[in-house]
Amino acid sequence: MWTKRYSEILLMTFMSITCTRAESEFELRDVTLHIIPANTVERNSELNLTCEVNVVSRGGNTPDLKISIFKNYNNHNPVYINNTRSNKVTYTIAKAQASHSGIYQCDVSAGNQHLYSSEENINVTGLQTPELRVDKLKVTEGEKVRVTCSAREESGVLEYTFKNGLKVIYKESSSSGVVQRFHSLTSTETAKFSCSYSIHVGNGVLHSSVSNEVHVVVEELKFTAKITILPSTEVIEGDSVYITCDVEGINKNSSVLSLSKGSRLLPRNYSTVVLANDSGVYECRAKVNSAERNAYKNLTVKELFSTPVLTITPAEVFEKESFNVTCRSSKIASERIGHDDVKYFIYRSNKMISSDNGIYKTMAKNETNGNYTCTAQVNNTIKWSQWITFTAKVLVSKPTITVLNEVILNKPFRIECRSDRGSLPISYTLKQNHTTLSHVQVSNPSQKAVFTTSIQSIQQISEFKCEAQNNGVNSAQTSDTLRAQVTVPVGKPNLITVPVEQDITENQQLQFLCGIPEGASSPITFKWYKEKNLSPVYVTTVNFTNAEYTILSVEGSHSGSFYCAALNKAGKEEVSNHVNVSVRMARWKKGLITGVCLMLVTGIVFAFVIRYRAMRVKVASSNGAGIWSVRPPVLDSSEVVDVDEPEEPNVEYTEVLHPQNSDPARVPLRKGTDTVYSEVQSTSPEFHDEF
Ligand SMILES: *[C@@H]1O[C@H](CO)[C@@H](O)[C@H](O)[C@H]1NC(C)=O
Ligand SMILES: *[C@@H]1O[C@H](CO)[C@@H](O)[C@H](O)[C@H]1NC(C)=O
Ligand SMILES: *[C@@H]1O[C@H](CO)[C@@H](O)[C@H](O)[C@H]1NC(C)=O
Ligand SMILES: *[C@@H]1O[C@H](CO)[C@@H](O)[C@H](O)[C@H]1NC(C)=O
Ligand SMILES: *[C@@H]1O[C@H](CO)[C@@H](O)[C@H](O)[C@H]1NC(C)=O
Ligand SMILES: *[C@@H]1O[C@H](CO)[C@@H](O)[C@H](O)[C@H]1NC(C)=O
Ligand SMILES: *[C@@H]1O[C@H](CO)[C@@H](O)[C@H](O)[C@H]1NC(C)=O
Ligand SMILES: *[C@@H]1O[C@H](CO)[C@@H](O)[C@H](O)[C@H]1NC(C)=O
Ligand SMILES: *[C@@H]1O[C@H](CO)[C@@H](O)[C@H](O)[C@H]1NC(C)=O
Ligand SMILES: *[C@@H]1O[C@H](CO)[C@@H](O)[C@H](O)[C@H]1NC(C)=O
Ligand SMILES: *[C@@H]1O[C@H](CO)[C@@H](O)[C@H](O)[C@H]1NC(C)=O
Ligand SMILES: *[C@@H]1O[C@H](CO)[C@@H](O)[C@H](O)[C@H]1NC(C)=O
Repeated sequence: MWTKRYSEILLMTFMSITCTRAESEFELRDVTLHIIPANTVERNSELNLTCEVNVVSRGGNTPDLKISIFKNYNNHNPVYINNTRSNKVTYTIAKAQASHSGIYQCDVSAGNQHLYSSEENINVTGLQTPELRVDKLKVTEGEKVRVTCSAREESGVLEYTFKNGLKVIYKESSSSGVVQRFHSLTSTETAKFSCSYSIHVGNGVLHSSVSNEVHVVVEELKFTAKITILPSTEVIEGDSVYITCDVEGINKNSSVLSLSKGSRLLPRNYSTVVLANDSGVYECRAKVNSAERNAYKNLTVKELFSTPVLTITPAEVFEKESFNVTCRSSKIASERIGHDDVKYFIYRSNKMISSDNGIYKTMAKNETNGNYTCTAQVNNTIKWSQWITFTAKVLVSKPTITVLNEVILNKPFRIECRSDRGSLPISYTLKQNHTTLSHVQVSNPSQKAVFTTSIQSIQQISEFKCEAQNNGVNSAQTSDTLRAQVTVPVGKPNLITVPVEQDITENQQLQFLCGIPEGASSPITFKWYKEKNLSPVYVTTVNFTNAEYTILSVEGSHSGSFYCAALNKAGKEEVSNHVNVSVRMARWKKGLITGVCLMLVTGIVFAFVIRYRAMRVKVASSNGAGIWSVRPPVLDSSEVVDVDEPEEPNVEYTEVLHPQNSDPARVPLRKGTDTVYSEVQSTSPEFHDEF
């Protein structure tokens, strides 16, 4: 398939080359467009557009040419085409008009050769002055006249404008050269018709001159509209009124009549029993052809009695207070009726509660609440008053007094006073021992009466009461006294030991007693701390003002500074004095050590004497450290038991004794204490073993 297609293309290429060779016996050199007599001419001139082709050929014969002339680059719709053997063609525009203006070009083609001429701009100046005609020069009011405007010589689309005097009355676009319009004349002034047109040329618009002016005389039609209101233009509600619309001075059959009030169209002869809102201007309109006459009349309808007004006095009423409801029409047409002719009916929530005289007196209670309205009535005319919603105010009920948060001595706390019933606004007063502390006015349901105060003793909590009132002092209601639990914060604790500090010896029972002043609220949490540790060594919660921490068998490691702390739900933790505990060695251990020391000293002295005697050489004896250097082996064995770190004795000893020491400032004191302790502790098992 591909090969077939390929061979086709090859064949066509070959053929075209052959053809070109065959036809290229001539050559289109150039083409020129001549505008004769000139590019710019006056309208109605004869214009010759001549297209001349310069062609050379072998035999000297001109080939078949297709020559076309086109305008404004629109070469698809040429204005002229000629298939000819002549190398020159002429397109004649016999009477050039403005619409012929534009840019012209020639297009020549022969075989597969093709040429365009250069562009030539043709400008036809001047427009035909239009002509205006009418079918009648004299008409009667409302009659129509036919107006015709023509500019037949012009070509192209013209936009016509008709005027009566200076006023534009009609516009229309047409290419027919003539436009016609029927215009009705309603004004009795003489009409002065004229017309003109405009035409689009290139990018611009050309305006013609104004046509001749034609005067048409309008004769007035002698007729008038007539409106009649009977019996009078001033009537009273309930009267029957007749209103008619008529025409005078012309045959009624040829006129159209209409009666209206505002935008409401009424029958041409209208009769009604009027109400107050029928007052206003009535219009009668008579129309003959397009001629129109109007007549107006004002109707005033006086109220027989005015809309009743409902009043409730006083405006605000508490339950059990009396109030009056009155219904009254303030104005009545006294020429027709007396005040007694008006009957009043009062309604509460659509139920009639009073008739006749328009006054209703009662005592306010829950049941008198509702929506009140009333009517005033004379014969069959009934008028309703506005609505009034009446709600009797409710006196305030006995308030309750409560605390909103925990009451802690000497700390601020909040008290709320609340009455379950009572119309707002309610004024609340907080009192302590009949002394007013403060007021709060509650004006909307979301508001609360909250007071902030504090007390210095538990008894004071029951000195508070509150008072609520919403209708003067007589409505005041007093609450019960305030009941609330008072939390007393803890006082400063005191820490003592049993036995007393000085008498603490190892293996004894040691008690730390922590006590606070009486009165603090339980439960109370006591905590014991050693040194500066953040976590307590012991914590207990009791319902007493003192508590204890017991070490059943005190050891050297218990030595140190102790303190206790106490707190309850008041929150603040109070800290005691510090007690320094130093655990002393047991007395028998002291004796043992003294004995061992004596034995050692004796031994050394003995050895020294022997050696001195034997060697008679001066020996540099050891200083006090020598004593210590003897001891470590003793310690060593005990430490192997206690701590499995067989290291250099002195170092080991220090580490064991200062496991918690992080305070360099305190080192000297503690070292002293530890020294005593460590000697005791480390030596004791040794001696046990040995004995
Ligand atoms: C236009 O051409 C015609 C004949 O082709 C000639 O009679 C006429 O005079 C020419 N008009 C002008 C204005 O040259
Ligand atoms: C075409 O041009 C020739 C030569 O100018 C002329 O004789 C002939 O009338 C033209 N034909 C038309 C249709 O204009
Ligand atoms: C045509 O000629 C008139 C008068 O010479 C000139 O005012 C107008 O600009 C010209 N229009 C064009 C499109 O050349
Ligand atoms: C008006 O028209 C009615 C019937 O439509 C006719 O009987 C009456 O004669 C006419 N009146 C006049 C004055 O032409
Ligand atoms: C009012 O018009 C009605 C019919 O449109 C007619 O029957 C009646 O007689 C007219 N009344 C008056 C007073 O013109
Ligand atoms: C009609 O009467 C009212 C009130 O008397 C007045 O305001 C209004 O101007 C009158 N209208 C005409 C058209 O007389
Ligand atoms: C109600 O009306 C009576 C007289 O009709 C009057 O004495 C009384 O004061 C009125 N009460 C109120 C609350 O206005
Ligand atoms: C008031 O009346 C309503 C219904 O009529 C009733 O639900 C409400 O309990 C009454 N209140 C009192 C305080 O009587
Ligand atoms: C009174 O009228 C109001 C609205 O106009 C309505 O919401 C209310 O329920 C009515 N009260 C009674 C008691 O009818
Ligand atoms: C009310 O009706 C009576 C009897 O029908 C009548 O005599 C009286 O004139 C009427 N009053 C008014 C103001 O229309
Ligand atoms: C309240 O009264 C009691 C006894 O009447 C008294 O002891 C107390 O001090 C009083 N408190 C104040 C705040 O006046
Ligand atoms: C403290 O007293 C309260 C109530 O009196 C009791 O519930 C609580 O168990 C007591 N606490 C102790 C530790 O005794």
